[in-house]
Amino acid sequence: MLIRSLALTTTCIALFAGCATLSNDQREAIKRGQGIYVKECAQCHGPTGAGGGEASLGLGETPPDLTRLSERNDGVFPREFVRRFVLGLIDKTNPDAAMPEFAKVGLAHVYPKGGADGEVLEADFADLLEYLESIQK
Ligand code: HEC
Repeated sequence: MLIRSLALTTTCIALFAGCATLSNDQREAIKRGQGIYVKECAQCHGPTGAGGGEASLGLGETPPDLTRLSERNDGVFPREFVRRFVLGLIDKTNPDAAMPEFAKVGLAHVYPKGGADGEVLEADFADLLEYLESIQK
């Protein structure tokens, strides 16, 4: 019993410490980024980023688990890689893979009428990266 409540206390402290390191601005950015994720990425990468989106079947290649980007990169969130990959600035190992090049298509579901001329706004992209970093396991 003592051990259990001790564990609970430790978990609470750890959770609180985790939250306390996020500023309100960051929390807002993560929320905005999640909105973009849901519209542009979830259909393939799944509702939580772990894969299994409804459009992920039959793509030829399974969309990777986006909650483990840090794990696959020695525990560090590979921000620049993700930015470049999503914008389509990295040569693909599989040129037939279905992932859109967002620098070309823009955030079409967020701005259906091609808001801001359909380009990917730096601020929106920063929010998306904040969200992706926040879901790392
Ligand atoms: C039409 C389906 C589809 C959509 C929409 C999509 N992706 Fe992907 N994504 C894939 C597939 C398939 C791959 C793996 C194949 C490849 O390398 O292109 C991939 C790969 C990735 C990778 C590389 C991961 C790694 O470890 O190599 C990242 C990062 C990524 N996607 C992020 C995103 C983000 C962020 C969005 C939304 C802005 C998004 N994807 C939208 C299908 C999709």
